[in-house]
Amino acid sequence: MAPLQFLFFLILFSHSICHANGNHDNCPNSFTCGKLGSFQYPFTMAEHPECGLLPIQGCLLDDTTPKLIQLDNNAKSVNLTGVVVPNKIITIYDDGFHTRLGHNECDTLHNNYTLPSPSPIVSMYIKYNVTLFRCNHNLSSKLPPKYVTLGCRRKYGYSYEIYYDKNNTHPEQEEATRFFPGCSAVQFASKDSTNTNDVLSFVSAEMVIEIVLSPDCDDCFNHRGGLCKLDNNKHFYCQIGSANNAGKKIGLVLALGNVTD
Ligand SMILES: *[C@@H]1O[C@H](CO)[C@@H](O)[C@H](O)[C@H]1NC(C)=O
Ligand SMILES: *[C@@H]1O[C@H](CO)[C@@H](O)[C@H](O)[C@H]1NC(C)=O
Ligand SMILES: *[C@@H]1O[C@H](CO)[C@@H](O)[C@H](O)[C@H]1NC(C)=O
Ligand SMILES: *[C@@H]1O[C@H](CO)[C@@H](O)[C@H](O)[C@H]1NC(C)=O
Ligand SMILES: *[C@@H]1O[C@H](CO)[C@@H](O)[C@H](O)[C@H]1NC(C)=O
Repeated sequence: MAPLQFLFFLILFSHSICHANGNHDNCPNSFTCGKLGSFQYPFTMAEHPECGLLPIQGCLLDDTTPKLIQLDNNAKSVNLTGVVVPNKIITIYDDGFHTRLGHNECDTLHNNYTLPSPSPIVSMYIKYNVTLFRCNHNLSSKLPPKYVTLGCRRKYGYSYEIYYDKNNTHPEQEEATRFFPGCSAVQFASKDSTNTNDVLSFVSAEMVIEIVLSPDCDDCFNHRGGLCKLDNNKHFYCQIGSANNAGKKIGLVLALGNVTD
């Protein structure tokens, strides 16, 4: 084959492999979502669920339409209200949690706010959270006065108490084991200091969420042109198509080498 023909052949070949399955070349590198600005992987528009892990709805609609985000496959969508650090830290507003908290704070504070549990692909954290202790039994030792007690006593069903430190959103582990043995720690987003007897003035439905891609997934998506996947045993693998970005580059280098021969 003449060198020039070979070059064309390779360009055609590398063009066709752009559309092979298993790489993200068909996905936009970034997309704009109204006033919230530009997003990249692991975010994706809900219209392209295959292109990311965290689909956002409403990006193509006008600015006044609330943007909703789904943090997990089975999770309910929540309002995506802001971006603190592009692609890393967002704010969400969970309307349902707000309603439940207002309706029955004891029931709502009984268990952790549920974020998707960490996976080999991505982990999420509530920045600015508060630790409360939920105890189903009377405490054996006398509490220092800086602890506030919220009684959740019932005529029927479970009774328990919730405690928090007025001076500290995260009491030392040593204090936790000394004063709250056998109790559960629960965590919620916190919008203010805990220096109050009103738990509703700091536990918040507006939450700052940090999204952390695992090193494996970062390497797979950003350096190898693959898609982050979990197999049936929930083990990470990087799905790379029959060819990928690296393959394309090698193809072009070969072609150029041939032309200059
Ligand atoms: C999102 O926010 C809008 C306006 O505040 C509200 O009407 C809507 O119910 C919220 N949606 C969800 C899923 O929380
Ligand atoms: C709460 O914040 C602490 C650090 O401030 C962090 O280690 C922890 O993971 C957070 N909890 C949640 C549920 O995100
Ligand atoms: C805890 O103490 C209260 C009185 O202060 C008592 O009525 C209740 O039965 C005690 N609960 C347990 C589980 O011992
Ligand atoms: C509250 O915390 C500050 C600094 O962490 C400490 O100096 C102060 O003694 C604490 N107050 C109480 C009542 O524990
Ligand atoms: C709430 O989450 C914390 C931190 O992830 C965990 O240590 C604790 O056991 C959880 N509490 C309950 C009641 O599940």
